[in-house]
Amino acid sequence: MKKITKAVIPAAGLGTRMLPVAKGIPKEMLPIVDKPCIQHLVEEAVASGITDILIITGRGKDAIENYFDYNIEYNNKLIASGKEQLMHELNAIADMANINFLRQKEAKGLGHAVYCAKSFIGDEPFVVLYGDDVIISETPVVKQLTDVYYKYGLGVAGVKSVTKEQIVKYCSLKVDHLEGNTYRVSDMIEKPAPDKIFSLLSILGRVVLPPEIFDILEHTPRGAGNEIQLTDAMRELAVTKGMTACEFEGKRYDMGSKLGLLMANVEQGLKHPETGEAFRAFLKELAPNL
Ligand code: UTP
Repeated sequence: MKKITKAVIPAAGLGTRMLPVAKGIPKEMLPIVDKPCIQHLVEEAVASGITDILIITGRGKDAIENYFDYNIEYNNKLIASGKEQLMHELNAIADMANINFLRQKEAKGLGHAVYCAKSFIGDEPFVVLYGDDVIISETPVVKQLTDVYYKYGLGVAGVKSVTKEQIVKYCSLKVDHLEGNTYRVSDMIEKPAPDKIFSLLSILGRVVLPPEIFDILEHTPRGAGNEIQLTDAMRELAVTKGMTACEFEGKRYDMGSKLGLLMANVEQGLKHPETGEAFRAFLKELAPNL
């Protein structure tokens, strides 16, 4: 079985839920304390054995490319002020993996963004990390999913249970239990009407896909929201070739939503070595008046 070494991070979406800030800053660059969302994703992929990453960008997303590059002005300034260690730390962000960029010329949906990666991926299985989903976990989620891929040899959806209110905005999976935290997927639907919900299991931000997904995406029509939906293509994959789901361990933050951004910063801000203590004291002061 081919080893999984490539990942795609779609980051070309317009981020309308994060307006107005998304008009000026890519939502994938919004921070958890001091680290942008997308760096968490690259670190997770690298910690899972991924060596080659393709980030799908679009107009207004230049900040992402600049972030994964050396910044000569900072480097000169840091050398002049004797802060070479910090310079090496900044440069290391660009050197974490072989990071490539490709523009999706029009935000036609997540499925179309993944399709843009066709020639980069070639004939290999690969991982997709949705650009605005940060997951903090003991074992990197990409590793949890690729382990399931190596066991069953089928595409793997990273899933979790969500609420009834959430499932209508996400996708819903029809599954049969295999063992432990793994399932066989027989159907799925994007943004289901309440009477079309299969289960409360939804795909949250990570999937492993075989290269056959590109043949499917080639003819996948626009679906929910008039976008080419990855869910619709994965549904066909599940029906024709088979697909599994892994209920992963980890805390997921939807950084593409205002509440998700706030939750991530409160929870992780409490754990951050520089901010934790003072932030805890601040929250305690605030809490009685909530
Ligand atoms: P989302 O559906 O969360 O992104 O896609 P969006 O369309 O930007 O969201 P809203 O509803 O307008 O707020 C998940 C990931 O897929 C990327 C997004 O950038 C995000 O990281 N994406 C989405 C693309 O790369 N291209 C697209 O056409 C759509």
